[in-house]
Amino acid sequence: MAFSERFLEELTERSDIVDVVSEYVHLTKKSGANLFGLCPFHSEKTPSFSVCPSRQMYHCFGCGKGGGVINFIMEVENLRFPDAVAFLARRAGMELPEEEAADGYTVLRRRLFELEREAALWFHEQLKTPDGETARQYMARRGISASTARRFGLGYAPDSWNSLGDAMKARGFTEQELLDGGLAKRGRNGGVYDAFRGRLMFPVIDVRGSVIGFSGRILGDGEPKYLNSPETMVFSKSRNLFALNLAKKSKSGYIILSEGNIDVVSLHQAGFDSAVASLGTSLTPEQARLLSHYTQEIVIAYDADAAGQKAAQRAIGILEKLDLRVRVLNLSGAKDPDEMIREKGPEAFRKLLEASEGQVDYRLGVIRGKYDLSAQDGKVAYLQEAAALLARLPSDVEREVFALRVAEEAGVSREAVLADVKRLRSRLLSQARRGAEKTAARPAQNVQPKERGLRYDDPRSARAEEGVIRLLYQEPELFRKREPISPEQFSSPVLRRLYAELLQRVQNGMKPSMAVLAETFSPEEVSLLTGILQKPETPGNAGKALEDYIGIIGNAGSGSSDDELLALAEKYRKTKGYGG
Ligand code: GTP
Ligand code: MN
Repeated sequence: MAFSERFLEELTERSDIVDVVSEYVHLTKKSGANLFGLCPFHSEKTPSFSVCPSRQMYHCFGCGKGGGVINFIMEVENLRFPDAVAFLARRAGMELPEEEAADGYTVLRRRLFELEREAALWFHEQLKTPDGETARQYMARRGISASTARRFGLGYAPDSWNSLGDAMKARGFTEQELLDGGLAKRGRNGGVYDAFRGRLMFPVIDVRGSVIGFSGRILGDGEPKYLNSPETMVFSKSRNLFALNLAKKSKSGYIILSEGNIDVVSLHQAGFDSAVASLGTSLTPEQARLLSHYTQEIVIAYDADAAGQKAAQRAIGILEKLDLRVRVLNLSGAKDPDEMIREKGPEAFRKLLEASEGQVDYRLGVIRGKYDLSAQDGKVAYLQEAAALLARLPSDVEREVFALRVAEEAGVSREAVLADVKRLRSRLLSQARRGAEKTAARPAQNVQPKERGLRYDDPRSARAEEGVIRLLYQEPELFRKREPISPEQFSSPVLRRLYAELLQRVQNGMKPSMAVLAETFSPEEVSLLTGILQKPETPGNAGKALEDYIGIIGNAGSGSSDDELLALAEKYRKTKGYGG
């Protein structure tokens, strides 16, 4: 498979990196030509993710990820190159050239999407058959109405070894496709049979509206209670949430995160249309990031038992890192949201929602619960732990407000609490500062690429090779008429390949673009390149700089010492420009 250069050129022209990234990251202008935001690829509180409009590239100074617009979509949507291209083409309103769309992987994925959808329709139809009576009874017992079943596309997998398989084969799907889609399994004797049998089926639908997999609940008691689709080419448990396709349209302003599929169904039925559930795992960072695209506030409505509360604590930690506001419901009296609604009605749940606590309240409550505040040492321990929590709050106001709360509970003055908080906070801040200084004081370590799996055998030459690549972007004219140094002379294989590819583009009269590298270079290799381009540029006499770099590359392994090279780098280094 290969997309034509012309097609990719037009695609990247119509997919401005600032526009595309802005659909995922809130970008602001800090200084200079670049925009900054919170990195979507790692957790952070201060923005180190930069987008450079002139070079149409992004680079994170925190985690080191970088690339062009196609890399960005590959990374953030978890797509392979051809799918990322198709994704951007759809966004840009461009049609994919026919033969280019026919990549094997893309075709198979498209088939699996069709299969999952057909299977969902078929499961849903089975609810109406005589055989579906057991499932209808089960839904009635759980209070799930027919219209709710329609809204979620619930279905019934008959208690049979091959009825889904037969139905899908009759529609033209192969056994292999059933296996690839996680709908069939191969037994030890080689026979193939339906994966879901005798279960109430919950289709998992992604935010684009495609059925990607299923969760199947046993009707009544038995093990396992739930069965999920395995990881397939279209389904990933940790990157999707049940009912997000519906919840993303809610006008409520928050998303309710619960644990169970039945909870979600029950909540929607009671009018809480922003409920979602993670798919039988505890909340993952990928799911949290996905949620952050649709809301700024999460209400955690996990089970009331100890396991649920522990999971809530973990989820708070993950959500907090993305700067989402988090509230936690206290389902006192009920086991889970479904039971709460069934026993006390939607109004009771609504009240609970309104009274739900902010995360600091919640965490203070958890700490308070651990100690006996009527005893002196319990009080001291509570104060210590609470102060440690407050010291980490970034906002002055918040620290003051909660200091008062803690003070009142422990029967001490607010000033006493604040003094403790202040002491702890200055210790934290100086620790952070020392950490940052230590990292900055170790330039030698930066000689090796930080991307995993990449190493320079000859760091001295490789640095100069990096310089040549920087100049190629900065002064393509120097490279246009003749190649001042041939790629073969590079010591680092990855730098050689990058240089060769970019050089060829420049000599063909094009810009040394970033976007097209996404196809042939790994994400680590492209990140290495964006990292190189972030280092301060070579100022002034670029021609002279190029000669010096070439001199070093030619003499790699002999002659100039590390010190000389450092001095040279120093000479060419501007102190301004962003980061280093
Ligand atoms: P009910 O007990 O019928 O109310 O179901 P529920 O949907 O509320 O589920 P529960 O609270 O027991 O579990 C929460 C979620 O964990 C479920 O929705 C499933 O996604 C997952 N889960 C529960 N049991 C299993 C299991 O046996 N296997 C797997 N893979 N996931 C499970
Ligand atoms: Mn439940």
